[in-house]
Amino acid sequence: MDTHNLIRSVPIFSELEESTIKQIVDIGLIRKYTKNSIVFLEEEAGAILFIISTGKVKIVRTDDEGREVILSILGPGDFFGEMALLDGMPRSATVVVLAASELFVINRREFIKLIEGSPQVATSLLGELTRRLRKADTQIENLSLKDAVGRVASVIIQIADDSGKIKKGQVYIDDFPLQQDLANMAGTSRETISRTIRQFMRLGYVDQQGNTFIINEYEKFKNIFS
Ligand code: CMP
Repeated sequence: MDTHNLIRSVPIFSELEESTIKQIVDIGLIRKYTKNSIVFLEEEAGAILFIISTGKVKIVRTDDEGREVILSILGPGDFFGEMALLDGMPRSATVVVLAASELFVINRREFIKLIEGSPQVATSLLGELTRRLRKADTQIENLSLKDAVGRVASVIIQIADDSGKIKKGQVYIDDFPLQQDLANMAGTSRETISRTIRQFMRLGYVDQQGNTFIINEYEKFKNIFS
């Protein structure tokens, strides 16, 4: 995708006038990252906003023992790195590349100029940050109130809502995350993920075809586990 179409496809920029889109294209540049590379580490100082053109990244926090919790997985059209730019604090999390990525980057000065010059950008940005806060609230509820099976189901629902394709009541999720990544999202072990998914398969709730994960009756699955 060329840079112009990329910027147009980013939800927070999609309603902008052509002249503003051109302005954004001119102030940024594309950087390429290979799989497993680290875009930046938690606690680093940050001066750049990243927009995903292609690929996929995970946003993670790690503890002193190296245990990891995944806060979110982001793909094309999503942005990250805005928090350090907006409050001047260090990066709130580490970002790791899950699939080779092309990231469009904008420096802090240009990003702030863009927000100050366009109420539309500011409103859309607040809308997206609000959606992330709602999702984080749901994650807190899931992690603190649900048992392991409920947490695994909630993570599957979250991924389906984020990147699944619905067809005749079934949801198809391509490039389903690795079991260890699912465990780090659900706050459980890889073994529990494996056991729970096998249990869901036996019950006919889900299927797996290669890298594609299928939820058979999505509304029913959601009703049971939401
Ligand atoms: P920043 O703090 O600059 O660097 C880490 C980035 O991860 C942060 O900006 C956000 O863009 C992103 N991030 C942090 N927490 C979450 C979350 N809960 N959901 C989605 N993205 C997040």
